[in-house]
Amino acid sequence: MQRRFAIIGHRAPSNGKLNLNDLSGASGRMDVLIRAISSSLFLSHGMRDDCHITLHLMGGPGPSRRIWFDSRNLRGLHVDERAIAGRISKILEEPVPPMGQMLEFSSGILHSGGDIATTMSEWQGENVRMILLDADAPLLSSSSFGEESVGFFLSDDQAFSDAELKLLDMEKYSLGSEWLQGHSAITIVHHILDQC
Ligand SMILES: C[S@@+](CC[C@H](N)C(=O)[O-])C[C@H]1O[C@@H](n2cnc3c(N)ncnc32)[C@H](O)[C@@H]1O
Repeated sequence: MQRRFAIIGHRAPSNGKLNLNDLSGASGRMDVLIRAISSSLFLSHGMRDDCHITLHLMGGPGPSRRIWFDSRNLRGLHVDERAIAGRISKILEEPVPPMGQMLEFSSGILHSGGDIATTMSEWQGENVRMILLDADAPLLSSSSFGEESVGFFLSDDQAFSDAELKLLDMEKYSLGSEWLQGHSAITIVHHILDQC
């Protein structure tokens, strides 16, 4: 089943120089986003062929940026954290493209301006069933899905803000009552959807 993820990096920088030696501190928990990319796209040997993930870099300076990693076209991206961070750091040196313009940076990696509202409106236009992952919600199970495209929203290490939750007014599903790290949540979603 075609699936996609959107992760919000509240403090992750959208522009400027990324500190590759301190992805968790000075780089606004970019490490969390990178692990989400790995869990979304990579298998033990190779890559899923049916998945993409959009990072939302909301930490400034300047306008927010979205980076889209699409497993269907990705070439030459290796799973190690530093290699992925290196690719992101090169993108952050580029100006943020205007909203509505998705610029290809390299095969399978595109970037654009915008935020979660932009992503929601794009997914709505593509008839994607949108789901907010939230520990305090009904349990997600494979019987919850048919053949549709499905997109999941998750946060980084911080909770969604009230304003974000107001915007993310959609179906909610849980993966259990304990809060997990985002990349673990993604792996569980894959496991459930792989059974559909
Ligand atoms: C590290 S958690 C965020 C924890 C944060 N303290 C909070 O209260 O939201 C990252 C994301 O993973 C997803 N997640 C983590 N555990 C989950 C669970 N048990 N059920 C559903 N989603 C979960 C949520 O989307 C969450 O925003």
